[in-house]
Amino acid sequence: MDKILQEIYALDKTQIEECAKHVMLGGGTRGGPVLARGKGVRVWDTDGRDYIDCTSQSWALYLGYANDEINQVIREHIESMTHIHQGFDNKPRFYLANKLAQLAPEGLNRVSFTVGGGPAIEAAMKICAKNVSPSRDFVCLYDSYHGTTLGSMGASWISTHSCGKYIGGSRFLPLTRPFIRIPNAYTYRNPFNVDAETYIDMCLTMTRETFERGIAGKPAGVIVECIQASAGQIILPKRYLQGLRKLCDEFETLLVFDEIQTFGRIGEMFAADYFSVKPDIIVLGKGLGAGLPLAAIIISDKLKGFDPDTEELHTFANPTLSMVTAAKQLAMLEVGILENCRKMGLYLGEHLKAMMEKYPEIGDVRQAGLHIGVEFVKDPKGKEPLEKETMAIRDAGMKNGVIFGLGGVRKNVLKIKPPLIVNKTECDEILEKLEKSVYTVLRK
Ligand SMILES: Cc1ncc(COP(=O)(O)O)c(C=O)c1O
Repeated sequence: MDKILQEIYALDKTQIEECAKHVMLGGGTRGGPVLARGKGVRVWDTDGRDYIDCTSQSWALYLGYANDEINQVIREHIESMTHIHQGFDNKPRFYLANKLAQLAPEGLNRVSFTVGGGPAIEAAMKICAKNVSPSRDFVCLYDSYHGTTLGSMGASWISTHSCGKYIGGSRFLPLTRPFIRIPNAYTYRNPFNVDAETYIDMCLTMTRETFERGIAGKPAGVIVECIQASAGQIILPKRYLQGLRKLCDEFETLLVFDEIQTFGRIGEMFAADYFSVKPDIIVLGKGLGAGLPLAAIIISDKLKGFDPDTEELHTFANPTLSMVTAAKQLAMLEVGILENCRKMGLYLGEHLKAMMEKYPEIGDVRQAGLHIGVEFVKDPKGKEPLEKETMAIRDAGMKNGVIFGLGGVRKNVLKIKPPLIVNKTECDEILEKLEKSVYTVLRK
């Protein structure tokens, strides 16, 4: 083994803490296990304990850890190149752009690649700015999350009071841009306690009012996560998304779907197909590169695209290694992985819903493919969020050998988003360990 790798792998706990003094974290938490290696849905820590990873590492490892086929592609491709600057023609980029254009909803067929989700949102904003005028203000939904770059941070819940306090993102508001917010049709809870259909109508009416009376000029673009992931795995109703589409057409603005978390994970390549609503721009990131960094936007052929005069230029926007793994993964998704995702998602969803009878504290189960959220409440009627208990269930899960995600603006949503290759035996293990954790926290 290479000497540097030997040195890295040999770091002991004291040495890790010494080195950690030099690391600045702007997000995420420390103090959990030190992860050493993974295979499939499982990851091992430096003490040799194993966990099923239901976070897929920020939901990005669609094919799990150390996938043999992806690793083979990496080994073969890396012999010739890892990265080519976007100013040079190269086959991986053309192949992948063509493939994405073929798979995307009809008419969305030009692709621009970039380095991560936040920059991809900003790329989409630039396309909006080029195509919509007179306009200045972008629109996003209550509780949305679109990144922490200065351009995207103003659209993320971390810059609002939605989680009960101002955190992180609000500090940089003088440097970022304000987004105009419209109500999200979170039908499980709504401030008026009306039924779901009435609330969808109210949200759309308020959106119309905002477009008419709350924005100077045309909305520059409306950026939407069809399933609001960080907000708490909120699956927006199809009728609401259809309503937004109509309003965008009427007010001559563009609808942007942030599909960074949903792409593939919901059992369909595109949320646009899942919800049968066609946006003007789709934004991709996270799992796109099969675990390697890559993000992209796909835009409608009706739109003016980028011009090659430094409108959108990044040193690492053409990582050919990520592009070939992305292409390989797309082929794998098409021939079985998406189907597995749909099946295993349903299986987990049904069993989680069945758990609601035994544990009324499970207020809602929201499942689309392997994009799953379980919302914990004090009682199903009052729906008071069980914040501390949800965190305790997550911690108990960790002790029991499953890493769950924790989120939602009320911090009471457990996220179950394993790699899309998870099998039935592994799903059973997740369910069994979840129930054990829920029992320990809520009944013991
Ligand atoms: C829906 C959504 N949009 C944008 C982003 C930002 O992506 P990145 O972290 O790659 O900048 C995220 C990241 O969690 C996300 O979930």
